[in-house]
Amino acid sequence: MIVVGHSRVARQVAANLNFPFLEIERAEFPDGELDIRFPEGIAGNDILLVQTIHGNPNDYLIELFFMAYTAKDLGAKSVKVVIPYLVYSRQDTRFRSGESISSSIVSQLLEECVDEVFTIDPHLHRNNISHIFKKVPAHELTAIPAIADYIKKRWNSPIIVCPDKGAVAIGGKIAELIGCKAVYLEKIRTTPEKVEVKLNEEVDFNGRQVIIVDDIISTGNTMAETAKMLKDKKAPFVYCIGIHGLLIGNCLDKLLAAGVDEVITTDTIRRGTSKIDISGVISDGVRGILK
Ligand code: R5P
Repeated sequence: MIVVGHSRVARQVAANLNFPFLEIERAEFPDGELDIRFPEGIAGNDILLVQTIHGNPNDYLIELFFMAYTAKDLGAKSVKVVIPYLVYSRQDTRFRSGESISSSIVSQLLEECVDEVFTIDPHLHRNNISHIFKKVPAHELTAIPAIADYIKKRWNSPIIVCPDKGAVAIGGKIAELIGCKAVYLEKIRTTPEKVEVKLNEEVDFNGRQVIIVDDIISTGNTMAETAKMLKDKKAPFVYCIGIHGLLIGNCLDKLLAAGVDEVITTDTIRRGTSKIDISGVISDGVRGILK
């Protein structure tokens, strides 16, 4: 097996698995079109393509398709792909009549050029990964233990806050691994951008490090509303941890203005906040499944 890609995570996964690494060259033509080039050594080999997201989702997808198709075209025996943040997974149903089911389009296109898929904590509220990918094996890996380890090493008295129903499975599991309290909030989304959160129990936050966890930090509105509510309840330290840091627009400023002390994400999406390394999650997961 040869690992290919162009990110730090891809290189680290190759090192962890003790597989050779080949760097894909990526450049843009003056009009913005993409130029992908593999080095020699693809033909006849099993390829593990690791690609962390670094731009907007559509650019990322085109790049992913170009890489996977080119690996096949160059004669790879098989192409397995690691997509740490599975873009479009939130669009897995027709919310409004006439709307495209984007998640299913992405998976069908991928199935044409890859033999197996690995992803990390995909946002699939209605389905699981085998409903999304029907023709090729697909596996969900999880960053939850890596996040629990990070929290355990860094703070001595954490309380985990789950800002909505979707975050309960993540936050609950993290709290269980750490052996600390988890608090669950009720979130009402009044518009796509606006949310309200409610805490339905009395909690003493005094002297505790309060850590809001969620799978995605997108506009930051969910976490900002949660942080404001926690500050009103006298939480002294408030941190946000997101698995996938989309961090759209002024998200970080908004969170800091809401009283958040620090925002931390994994590097499924490369950001300045990416302090939790995901390469171990990928290499352990791939090793376990491919053994
Ligand atoms: C929603 O179900 C997700 O788990 C996140 O809570 C959501 O994507 C966060 O979005 P935002 O940062 O825009 O509030």
